[in-house]
Amino acid sequence: MSYPDVRLRRLRRSAAIRRLVEETRVAPAELVLPLFVKEGLTEPRAISSMPGAVQHSRESLRKAAHEAVRAGVGGLMLYGVPTDDHKDETGSQGLAPDGILNVAISDVIAEVGDSTVVMSDLCLDEFTSHGHCGVLADDGSVDNDATLALYARMGVAQATAGAHMVGTSGMMDGQVGAVRKALDAANFQDTSILAYAAKYAGAFYGPFREAVESSLQGDRRQYQQDPGNAREALRETDLDIAEGADVVMVKPAMPYLDIITRLRDRVDIPIAAYQVSGEYAMIEAAAANNWIDRERAILESLTSIKRAGAQIILTYWATEAAQLLRARY
Ligand code: PBG
Repeated sequence: MSYPDVRLRRLRRSAAIRRLVEETRVAPAELVLPLFVKEGLTEPRAISSMPGAVQHSRESLRKAAHEAVRAGVGGLMLYGVPTDDHKDETGSQGLAPDGILNVAISDVIAEVGDSTVVMSDLCLDEFTSHGHCGVLADDGSVDNDATLALYARMGVAQATAGAHMVGTSGMMDGQVGAVRKALDAANFQDTSILAYAAKYAGAFYGPFREAVESSLQGDRRQYQQDPGNAREALRETDLDIAEGADVVMVKPAMPYLDIITRLRDRVDIPIAAYQVSGEYAMIEAAAANNWIDRERAILESLTSIKRAGAQIILTYWATEAAQLLRARY
């Protein structure tokens, strides 16, 4: 059968029918809110390239965490921003129990307990004076294996502070296995690992660099993936799962929807996607110019990421989107 007997418009004619046949719905519990906390702040500070997002003080971080939980958000991903004098060659403040990120993890756990999933960024870039995700070898390249030893200790420091899940985002070979081994040896068998499995070296992290006051000169192409490579993402993911990843993530999200779908077809562990700072900034900037409808664009972008196959979405709109979605369904 075909037209005129078949008319697909029949199922689009009213809001009620469209709702009945809607294939993809995003739920608040699938959203994870990334949050920045800056050492020494007493008031939150705006991030100019991420309108609406802020660097939090310890106090305002607790409030934002509380608000996200009230909206039904499924998780929080914490990033610490140390003062400049607390950055060094090896990123030692990332490991220190009184480093800003570890302190913030404890603060948030004290605020929200087990009512949401508290995650922390397990990477050195916010804490190193050169801004790279690991320690440097004599030739200036990032030393993979020396970095693993630090990630292992950093993972234990974050678990000790109370993190439920650590996000290995540095793209060092072997990082998931090194962190898993260290967590298990320290009796943190139940702390889970969100592996940034397919993380691409691209232009969409620009606003994040402002948000964390990154010291990076140059780029991360020696460790993050080339944007044109899809099959390589499968290898990255297989290795992370073999090393003990509990969840695998694709990042950024919208420019890499095909990668999300390929992982969905291939693996049976939860798949996350990170709608990164540049994706956020593009929609905010276009909406500020009245070029697109902001709320519709936000929800459409999240729906597309879910439709591609991600069941967890990290997004800076998590709290607001959760509120919008609750009003809708
Ligand atoms: C590394 C890290 C980055 C982001 C999350 N974790 C920066 C990078 O890889 O350069 C970017 C997130 C975003 O742009 O929203 N710690």
